[in-house]
Amino acid sequence: MGKKVILINEGKLSEIKLHSIWLRERLNGSEFVDQNNLQRLYEPSLLDNNLLINMHSVDKNKLNVEFSDGAKGSFNIDDLFNEINNIDVIPEKKIWDVNSHNIKIFDNNKIFKNNDELIKMLKVFYQYGYVIIKNTKAEENEVINFAEKLGPVRSTNFGKLFNVISKPNPNDLAYTALELTSHSDNPYRKPVPGIQLLHCIANESTGGDSSLVDGFSVSNFLKLNQPEFYKILTNTTVTFKFTDIDTILVDQAKLIELDHNNNFKQIRFSGRLDYVPLLDENSLNLFYEARKYMFKLCNSDDFKIKYRLSKGMIVMFDNLRLLHGRTKFDPNTGFRHLQGCYIDHDVTEGKLRRSLQPN
Ligand code: OGA
Ligand code: ZN
Repeated sequence: MGKKVILINEGKLSEIKLHSIWLRERLNGSEFVDQNNLQRLYEPSLLDNNLLINMHSVDKNKLNVEFSDGAKGSFNIDDLFNEINNIDVIPEKKIWDVNSHNIKIFDNNKIFKNNDELIKMLKVFYQYGYVIIKNTKAEENEVINFAEKLGPVRSTNFGKLFNVISKPNPNDLAYTALELTSHSDNPYRKPVPGIQLLHCIANESTGGDSSLVDGFSVSNFLKLNQPEFYKILTNTTVTFKFTDIDTILVDQAKLIELDHNNNFKQIRFSGRLDYVPLLDENSLNLFYEARKYMFKLCNSDDFKIKYRLSKGMIVMFDNLRLLHGRTKFDPNTGFRHLQGCYIDHDVTEGKLRRSLQPN
């Protein structure tokens, strides 16, 4: 009989203590999990809290274990190591260097013919937060056709598809010819749409150039260079609000949200829609200074990639990470029509994980 924990002194797992139940509930033989979906066939909460490890041995990359309740099996040590160390197949975010950045363009004619090209595109998407796809048809609904080749589209009160076109009395300033400074979309939704696609059907007006900014790079810059600003922006909960004749949508969140390890999780930035609470004067002074600074970074050439979306191009970007914008345009000089839709990260991340990870 062993103890409740096991110390393996060989290979990569040296010095890591593995709890007996933690290991037991990772047994993946057919008596423990359904082999089609890897879901447990028993209730792990009902395992004996005093479960012991009777025996263990290491054979190359395999850890073989026998438990005191009679269950036994083997584990791939690399898999255990990757799980323990949070090593993920999804590529890590890269900090942008705007000056040396080459726009990431993929060809619609290649990505759906060749799965390797699609995987390459998705990897770049997770590294840089966006990709541009050329050679799509400059026709209505093409953005939905494209998105649905990846997975399901997220409908909102704007519909499954929205038309970005200059029109009278719009319910969103995107549907005018005004400049849109760097912003993220729909920060008032629960949850915020993860990925936005914008497809260009026509862009013949003067103006109407596009831009992208990496919120992750901006956040990192603030953390390193303006820690007081970073602190208040990551700690102040503001309200985001959308209002039209049919609905009012409200959510509360930080402009920069961190995860439980204090790493960047999400940016929400839209000066058209945010309302800070009435904090004490000093906190508000600091918040307004910090937001002004963040706005300047997000609209400066040090962080902005400028490009022109032309007929037949789609930009697909991570709306939880990147900000986007456009210069104003003159509708009297030519027609400008984009169509957009949203998809969830489930679609792209799930596809990429499925291709890169055996199980
Ligand atoms: C939008 C938007 C950008 C553009 O519709 O959310 O930001 O280029 N549009 O018109
Ligand atoms: Zn937008």
